[in-house]
Amino acid sequence: MKKEPSILVVFGGTGDLIAKKVLPALNQWYEEEIPYEKVLCLGRRDFSNEAYGDFVREKGQFQWVESLKERVQYLNLEFNHSQDYQTLKNLLGKGSKKKITFYLAVKPEAFVTIAENLNRIGLLEKGNIRHKIIFEKPFGASLKSSQSIQKSILALVDEEQIYRIDHYLGKDMIRNILALRFGNRLFQESWNGNVISSVKIVSSETAGVEERIDYYDHIGAINDMIQSHLLQLVALIAMDEPKDFSAATIRKEKFEILKHIRLSGEEPVIRGQYKGYRQINESLSASETETYVKATLSVHRPNWKDTQFVVETGKKMKEKRMEIIISYRPKTLHLNDSETFQVAPNVLTIQVYPTEGVHLRFNSKAPGYDFQMDPVEADYCHDCRSIGNKPEAYVKLLMDAEAGDKTLFASWRELEIQWQIADQIKVAAIKTPLKLYEQKEL
Ligand code: BG6
Repeated sequence: MKKEPSILVVFGGTGDLIAKKVLPALNQWYEEEIPYEKVLCLGRRDFSNEAYGDFVREKGQFQWVESLKERVQYLNLEFNHSQDYQTLKNLLGKGSKKKITFYLAVKPEAFVTIAENLNRIGLLEKGNIRHKIIFEKPFGASLKSSQSIQKSILALVDEEQIYRIDHYLGKDMIRNILALRFGNRLFQESWNGNVISSVKIVSSETAGVEERIDYYDHIGAINDMIQSHLLQLVALIAMDEPKDFSAATIRKEKFEILKHIRLSGEEPVIRGQYKGYRQINESLSASETETYVKATLSVHRPNWKDTQFVVETGKKMKEKRMEIIISYRPKTLHLNDSETFQVAPNVLTIQVYPTEGVHLRFNSKAPGYDFQMDPVEADYCHDCRSIGNKPEAYVKLLMDAEAGDKTLFASWRELEIQWQIADQIKVAAIKTPLKLYEQKEL
């Protein structure tokens, strides 16, 4: 059955995210599957459709698929000019009858104003599930500000209409975590604190934040990466087996973990800033914003007793890398009454970037007559199995939002706890010195 076409309206159309990630992702979404009859991109700059097309193509470094380009339209709109919304309404025609998804890829301070204006002119009606609203992260800048946004937004739309993006949840290898964990007895039955000593979740980048400095200096690495992506990963790694894989159950199980996360150890947070950050512009000469952070956490549940969860992220690092390293406790073999042998701890690495795969270090007897043991390695290359385009996180998330599937979108109660944890990390971070670093390795 042919799906009813809908309209995607993007606020923040001239921003990096739309040009570098979202439009290239839509471009990859096969022509006939794109459900949007129109993709309306809004921004403050004065562009013709043609000039906008060239602008994003250059910025995002991609070639338009013709049929998408035909559907993309640009509109110059100031988000706080209420009269501009009438022009938007005129362009959309009888808005309330149509399936419309509003995607707000703008700073969180603009969320409520935009939603209020859309609601006022009838394009975003409370209770109308044909009207959806997607919020790009961060959803606020602290627990307090996110609660205030949530409260104002709920006066305008129902929770059911809201989708909060965390693009890490759309990444194929991150979606693979639950498959690996619960689809294999091998992993499932050894997935607990009795045998796992630490879980390290790292996301490093070589790029700095020059182009996004206006956003970044108010946000910092804790809000930008830990609050959203990395805490969600802790939840996916530590959650109990869900009774089913429905959105409600998976979100509930993640929430059960999130509410038990605490800072741990004597120095739970280390923070840094890359050298050169303060020279990006004059206003930053005394900036204390962290571009690197490492936080040590624990999950206060009986099955994760004594397991360290380390989340670490940084800009201007030596390499761009995203992986989850699961280290098992060491083990001693009793060879005979007087001899023992310490085998190397097993390590399971879930690789998300630059390669997608699973790497396992285990112990094996060395070939030969003697009984010697060595650590050996097994690799699974996930991306080697992709045919054609690799699954793209933003495509998956937009597809799911279109279908009304919230499995890969954080619920409000998850997000609220994530902010609470992020705020605690920020309080601990301020008590530690901000170390300046040259490009470094994790
Ligand atoms: C975004 C952050 O959510 O994730 C950026 O705002 C960061 O600062 C980006 O660069 C990293 O995403 P990825 O997919 O490249 O790991």
